[in-house]
Amino acid sequence: MRVSSSFIVVLAVAIATACKQEATPSSPKISPPASVTASPDQVPAGVTAVQNEMRLLHEAMRNCVTAVAYGTLDSIPENLHAVHRARELTEKALESGEYKLPKSPEKLASFKELDEQFHGELENLVAAARSKDGTATGRQVGVVLSKCSSCHTQFKP
Ligand code: HEC
Repeated sequence: MRVSSSFIVVLAVAIATACKQEATPSSPKISPPASVTASPDQVPAGVTAVQNEMRLLHEAMRNCVTAVAYGTLDSIPENLHAVHRARELTEKALESGEYKLPKSPEKLASFKELDEQFHGELENLVAAARSKDGTATGRQVGVVLSKCSSCHTQFKP
């Protein structure tokens, strides 16, 4: 079978384009300055209390994958403790009115309820990690991750 040279050129361009797209995945869009380092001690300038907490949570969950992969489960409680401390900052900011939910502020009660359930699952994750059971910890990481989107759909702008 004779393949025309123009067909080969088209094919080569298509493959090159596909490779290029794969090589440069779009980075997640984090609206406020990504350079601000999250802190469990105080909400840094330039981010909201929830953004601060969420950044620590994001970091902690990434660390969980590493901890499960390398059997370093000891690092999990410490990381999640930082999230817990940041959550206390969130609670204060909600109480003082300094932080208002950017989306659906009128549903504060249901946000608090979701948040309460979510932190219960984080406590279960700490317990699994403390029991040094890699399988149970991995499973609980999955449970925790399965909760992010439903809250984001309702409350994240
Ligand atoms: C109970 C609700 C709730 C849950 C559960 C939740 N989030 Fe969030 N998340 C929010 C809200 C609200 C915002 C937007 C905060 C803002 O813009 O002030 C947010 C924003 C974020 C952001 C963006 C932060 C930034 O810098 O702008 C990240 C990252 C994030 N969440 C990660 C996660 C991950 C990972 C999980 C699950 C492991 C999760 N969230 C679970 C409510 C939640």
